Amino acid sequence: MREPSAGLPPLSLYIHIPWCVRKCPYCDFNSHNAPASLPQTEYVDALLRDLDQDLPLAQGRPLTSIFFGGGTPSLFTPDNVARILDGVATRLELPRGIEVTLETNPGTVEHGPFAGYARAGVNALSNMPRGHPVNKYRYCAAAFRGMCVPAGAARTQRK
Ligand SMILES: C[S@@+](CC[C@H](N)C(=O)[O-])C[C@H]1O[C@@H](n2cnc3c(N)ncnc32)[C@H](O)[C@@H]1O
Ligand code: SF4
Repeated sequence: MREPSAGLPPLSLYIHIPWCVRKCPYCDFNSHNAPASLPQTEYVDALLRDLDQDLPLAQGRPLTSIFFGGGTPSLFTPDNVARILDGVATRLELPRGIEVTLETNPGTVEHGPFAGYARAGVNALSNMPRGHPVNKYRYCAAAFRGMCVPAGAARTQRK
């Protein structure tokens, strides 16, 4: 019997967090000065409603990766990142070990929150130093876990 996803391209999920500490003058992206209080709960609710609308387009395909981009996704608390990932996991199939990346800005996330993001299911960081657009580097999942998370604390397997 044919799989429902046979012949379709693989499916990745991009989640946009459109706020930054301060809007950079050169930036053409959908990013905005963060208000004093970010409407995190409301935004997560809206994201999941949006995902519900688009679910039929998945046509039974499992996700191959998840990427939180911005803006500055690390302005969201680990609890709200977890709410998003838990909501995605109840709607779509997430294979074991799927890469879940969170874009960070130097200065907006320090070692403390890393453990919270890992517990939420994030297992890779994309870190793009301001002022050096070509000098991009990524921490691999193993480095991320080893650097910042107490042994056994990571919830990197979502199923
Ligand atoms: C949109 S930012 C998102 C991640 C994070 N907020 C940051 O600044 O690294 C992603 C990258 O786009 C670059 N960028 C922003 N505006 C750009 C522009 N107008 N042309 C080329 N690169 C740009 C930034 O320098 C950054 O490396
Ligand atoms: S921090 Fe990144 S996304 Fe935010 S305004 Fe600056 S370049 Fe754009």
